[in-house]
Amino acid sequence: MQGSNCCHAMKNRAMVVALGCALAAGPAWAADAAAGRAKAAQCAACHGPNGIATLPTAPNLAGQNATYLVKALRDYKSGARKDEMMSLMAAGLSDADIEDLAAYYSGIEITVKRPAS
Ligand code: HEC
Repeated sequence: MQGSNCCHAMKNRAMVVALGCALAAGPAWAADAAAGRAKAAQCAACHGPNGIATLPTAPNLAGQNATYLVKALRDYKSGARKDEMMSLMAAGLSDADIEDLAAYYSGIEITVKRPAS
């Protein structure tokens, strides 16, 4: 996100604005969240149909930063990050698949509530 001041200025705006900034700094093609939703069917067994993990050892992906998701998936694919399950999953993803999946998961709206104390 270096050099893109737009996100800092819009901190309070909706997630979708932040995503727009992230993509503006990214590749030329537009990520397709609807296509990502369809592609995410293969991820649901572990990360849940809504991005909240059903497998205890898998992380939640809902609402995660698109930039982070893209980096994580590229790292699994390149071998920079290794995991028995994810290295296999990422090997089959194209750059467009990765962008679409990141758009889908980052677009899932989540609410958080800190414990009272
Ligand atoms: C068989 C279970 C399984 C499936 C299917 C699976 N994942 Fe994962 N995923 C995991 C586990 C376990 C981890 C944690 C791995 C680690 O420690 O690096 C993970 C990690 C990730 C991460 C890193 C998140 C973070 O917080 O660093 C991303 C992104 C991700 N998965 C995306 C996907 C996508 C997209 C798909 C579908 C194409 C998918 N996964 C399919 C089990 C799975």
